Amino acid sequence: PRVMVLFGGRSGEHSISCATAGGVLRAIDRERYDVLAVGITPSGRWVLADDDPDRWAIVDGRLPQVEDTAAHVLLPQATDDRDVQVLERGLLPRTVGEVDVVFPLLHGPFGEDGTLQGLLELADVRYVGAGVLASAVGMDKHMMKLVLAGHGLPVGPFEVIRPGELERDPEAVVARIKALGLPLFVKPARAGSSLGISRVDDLADLAAAVEVARAHDPKVVVEAAITGREIECGVLGGHAGERPRASLPGEIVVTDPRHAFYDFEAKYLDEGGVTLACPADLPPDVVAEVQEVAVRSFEAVGCEGIARVDVFVTPEGRVVVNEINTMPGFTPFSMYPRMWQASGVTYAELVDELIALALA
Ligand code: DAL
Ligand code: MG
Repeated sequence: PRVMVLFGGRSGEHSISCATAGGVLRAIDRERYDVLAVGITPSGRWVLADDDPDRWAIVDGRLPQVEDTAAHVLLPQATDDRDVQVLERGLLPRTVGEVDVVFPLLHGPFGEDGTLQGLLELADVRYVGAGVLASAVGMDKHMMKLVLAGHGLPVGPFEVIRPGELERDPEAVVARIKALGLPLFVKPARAGSSLGISRVDDLADLAAAVEVARAHDPKVVVEAAITGREIECGVLGGHAGERPRASLPGEIVVTDPRHAFYDFEAKYLDEGGVTLACPADLPPDVVAEVQEVAVRSFEAVGCEGIARVDVFVTPEGRVVVNEINTMPGFTPFSMYPRMWQASGVTYAELVDELIALALA
C-alpha cells in the first residue's frame, strides 16, 4: 500500500512531530509500503519532504523543522488567488486520494485535534488513529475531563478560565481557584508536550501563569496537583468491535530537581533529567487497574488505533487520569513504543498494526 507519512504542522509541537516521523520513517518496511513523506511547514504549507530518518532526529538539542522549499506543494494555504483556485478545483482530495492511507504523525492543534481528520474525511482517505470527535476531545483538556468524568473515570479537581473571564471578574475566578489548594498546574486547554504549562506555588503568580498559557490557547485549565507517581499506559487496537489492548505501564521519573515537573525541556532536551522506567515497578493489581482505566478512557473518548493514557497512582494505590493523547510521541525513545516493546510488540510491528487497522 501507498502510505503518506504526514508530519510537522502548525502547532508548537512541530519539531516533536518531525522527530516522531523520523522514527516511523526508519522503522517502516519499505518493501511492503510505498512511502510518501509529506511535511507541513510551521505556516501550514504541505511540501514533499525528505524521507531520510536522520534528517528529522533531535540532535544535541537542535529541533528539526520542515522548510518551505520549492518542493511540490500538495495543499497550499489559500494565501493568493491561485491557491484558492487549486483548493476549489478539488486538487486536495485527488492528491491525498493518491495514497491508500495517511499516517498523520502530528501533535497538537491542526493535526491531533480533529481538524486534519476532518479534512481527510472530506477527502475520503483512510488514516491512522482517532477520528474527528475523539481527536478534538483528546486535544481539549477541559472537554477531555468532562467526557472522562461523565463516564465515571477518576479525574482530579480542576477549574476552567474562559477567555476574558479573569478580566471581567478576577475575584470570582481567584476564589474558585483558591479552593483547589496549592500547588497548581496552569495549562492551555489545547496544547501538548507541556508547552505553556506552569507550576504555581503561590497565588500571586497565577495571573502570570495564565498569560503564559494563553499564548497557546485563550482557554486555560487549572488543575490541583495530585500527589502520586506519574504512570503512562499505551493503548492499541479498538477497531471492528474488538476491545483495545493495554501495554505494560511505564513511569516518568524526574531525576533532576531543576525540572519542577515533566516540562518540554525535560521531555526532549535534557538527556538525563528524566528517566523513563519501563515497565514501571508496580504491584500486579495496580498494573491491572492502570490498564483497565486506560482502556476505559480510550473507549470513553472514542479513540481508534492508538492512544497513550497518562495517570497518577497515589500513595494509596488510587489511579487518577491526567490525560489521554491521541497521537502520543512516537520517537524510538518515546514512552509509547517503549511500553509496547516491553509488552512484546516491536516498533516496526506497532507501525504495521496501526496501518493495518486503518486499512481494515
Ligand atoms: N504531546 C506529546 C507528543 C505526547 O503526548 O507524547
Ligand atoms: Mg498531551
